[in-house]
Amino acid sequence: MKTTRAYAPASIGNISLGFDVLGAALQPLDGNLLGDEVIISDADEYGLTVAGVFAHKLPANADENIVTDCYHFFGKAMQAKGLATTPVHITLLKSLPIGSGLGSSASSIVAAFHGLNEHFERPFDQNTLLKMMGELEGQISGSVHYDNVAPCYLGGMTLMTGQEDNVTVSLPVVKSWYWVVCYSGISVSTSAARNILPNAVPLKDTLTFGRQLGIFVHALYNDDYAMAASVMQDVIAEPYRKSLLPVFDEARDYSMANGALAFGISGSGPTVFAVCDDYRQANDIANWLTENYIQNEDGFSHVCRIPAKGAGSQQEQE
Ligand code: HSE
Repeated sequence: MKTTRAYAPASIGNISLGFDVLGAALQPLDGNLLGDEVIISDADEYGLTVAGVFAHKLPANADENIVTDCYHFFGKAMQAKGLATTPVHITLLKSLPIGSGLGSSASSIVAAFHGLNEHFERPFDQNTLLKMMGELEGQISGSVHYDNVAPCYLGGMTLMTGQEDNVTVSLPVVKSWYWVVCYSGISVSTSAARNILPNAVPLKDTLTFGRQLGIFVHALYNDDYAMAASVMQDVIAEPYRKSLLPVFDEARDYSMANGALAFGISGSGPTVFAVCDDYRQANDIANWLTENYIQNEDGFSHVCRIPAKGAGSQQEQE
């Protein structure tokens, strides 16, 4: 019997300046994992077990779990290729909070697809698998966007291309930056956070968005980290979404006054992130956010780096 174990990290979508087109994977500095895992074993029939800290927040019925959708989607794609699938039992270890802005659904989806692809000996290439991941993520959030699934799967910081045959490209990662993330403990649904956005963006903000993204990419390729940080502002979503986030303005003010180079909402929130180039300041901001931004016992803070590697897996044969 073969067992495949796959892990997929948390991620920051948007990174303030790249609504729907920019994302980064996260790895806590303390070495702990921050992401979901799946354990896939050969079985007589399909089954799903859910465990882990946030398992109790998922629907009790396995048919309503996104991992079951991934399994069926994967099976159909195999059939379309003329390949046979065999039943598996999947255990989902749900460590990321739902509706947190840390790419929780993306993490489950990426772990499931990556694990299934490894379990069935890699029938799909990276780009095909990524498009499957994006499609399933779209079913949950209400629109296909890759800014969580791409960095979660591939690691690093990724920029979405909008092109079918090469969904994403990797950007240079600033090795000296610490990424403080703080989840407040409340849940914000991505589709609700998208629905509060206006359908049209004013010309002035559209021009700012394009200029910021262009300068950011230029600055990363030229190792000009001060310039990169100086354009990390969100003119698209934050002005509307921050109303959903208690203590957001205070958290921004504290972070920016205490050494942060940039501060923003992770994905659709409520997690916020601060970028620092000083470890002591990053820790200080993490402590302040823990004391002041967290709303209940589900919240947490981590000081992270952006890992070069995203999803990973290992296999055992008995
Ligand atoms: N880009 C997405 C959004 C990320 O901001 O709605 C959330 O998954």
